Amino acid sequence: MSTNENVQIAPTEGKLGILIPGMGAVTTTFIAGVEAVKRGLAKPIGSVTQLATIRLGKRTEGRTPRIKDFVPLARLEDLVFGTWDIYEDNCYQAADKAGVLETPLLAKLKEPLAAIQPMRAVFDQEYVRRIHGPNVKPPASKMEHAEMLMDDIRRFRERTGAARLVMIWCGSTEVFHTPAPVHATLKDFECGLQKNDPEISPSQIYAYAALKSGVPYANGAPHLTVDTPALLELARERHLPVCGKDFKTGQTFMKTLIAPGLKSRMLGVHGWFSTNILGNRDGEVLDDPGSFKSKEESKLSALEQILQPDLYPELYEHIYHKVRINYYPPRGDAKEGWDNIDIFGWLGYPMQIKIDFLCRDSILAAPLVLDLVLFLDLAQRAGMRGVQEWLSFYFKAPMTAPGLYPEHDIFIQLMKLKNTLRWMRGETLITHLGLEYYD
Ligand SMILES: NC(=O)c1ccc[n+]([C@@H]2O[C@H](COP(=O)([O-])OP(=O)(O)OC[C@H]3O[C@@H](n4cnc5c(N)ncnc54)[C@H](O)[C@@H]3O)[C@@H](O)[C@H]2O)c1
Repeated sequence: MSTNENVQIAPTEGKLGILIPGMGAVTTTFIAGVEAVKRGLAKPIGSVTQLATIRLGKRTEGRTPRIKDFVPLARLEDLVFGTWDIYEDNCYQAADKAGVLETPLLAKLKEPLAAIQPMRAVFDQEYVRRIHGPNVKPPASKMEHAEMLMDDIRRFRERTGAARLVMIWCGSTEVFHTPAPVHATLKDFECGLQKNDPEISPSQIYAYAALKSGVPYANGAPHLTVDTPALLELARERHLPVCGKDFKTGQTFMKTLIAPGLKSRMLGVHGWFSTNILGNRDGEVLDDPGSFKSKEESKLSALEQILQPDLYPELYEHIYHKVRINYYPPRGDAKEGWDNIDIFGWLGYPMQIKIDFLCRDSILAAPLVLDLVLFLDLAQRAGMRGVQEWLSFYFKAPMTAPGLYPEHDIFIQLMKLKNTLRWMRGETLITHLGLEYYD
């Protein structure tokens, strides 16, 4: 047990089991990436836990350890993976079909990837409409499905000997729903599971099963899942950390880099038009209006929160913000995102910014999955429970305490993340005031 005046952090002994509903492009790129890094075939580019340093104390002290040497994180060698999917392909076949990583690299990883066979999914066509697969659990009540998932988790723990577990949703985006009466309290939710309430989605059944099994939960998609009073009550009751929603990768990542910069210089924005083409399975699911609505809500919220039109009406009150996602199969996972930003400066004179980001969705998302599972496991060992706002850095629509607006500015988010790590280890928080250097 490492101790300091703030927090006691349990050691990282034993294996860390990573449980993932959904074994598509993101999951296979993440798992294959970890296996490649472990074998020295590639570097974990994009991962803050693996590459970033953290400054400690004054700038004159020269103390900048790597984050992974500063806080006790699970080692890549100690990760084991368990997944669920509606398709029967093993991880090697699914990675091959996703078409993100090149065949020669995948061939070198065939043995560990082919050994990962997805467990049968809890699936509901009402929530994800465009895909159909055979690897699903037999019809049963939602509570029985939750119990089957808890059995899967128990068996995975026994089979792998994992000392600790974390679950992260990398399944498809479910159709847009707002919280219903069944999400008000844990009691209502459990009653709804028994009665097959249609407002309970598959991702919520996975989250319930995870939390009941003592497993922290992260949500990589924009739908509600644990962002409901019922499941937050369960997380607090079981002393488990949770976080979400929706990995901040391509276009929204760019937005949260640029918008804070424009606002910092008090430059106005008339309009922001964002459009994408992508051709992977995620793009196909998002072609359904219900799933797109979940994504749209999550993508739209960031800009409004960053620009704060209520505080700066002369700069942002009339902003026209539009987001489009177009399914275009020829591109596969190699998404292209265009932004046209109409801004104005001194005396109202107009200017334009154009961004054309030729990105790779899953290459951007995979390191976020790695960081999130390692940090969520750290939070669990540090006794932190409920919403982990310090992990907002990774999300398009960060979860917060009720009534608190989310922080979207990526630089504030990074400061919050690093200060939380300093706080965990009893180091001085860094305010960037710096007057002491000039005394
Ligand atoms: N790639 C990114 O940059 C990015 C960014 C933000 C969010 N996301 C989200 O991450 C998720 C995964 O993205 P992806 O590109 O890997 O998508 P994908 O379509 O390749 O994979 C999703 C997988 O989930 C499976 N699935 C759907 N419902 C399931 C269920 N109930 N149980 C088990 N499996 C289920 C599907 O069969 C599919 O194989 C999506 O929700 C996506 O919106 C991705």
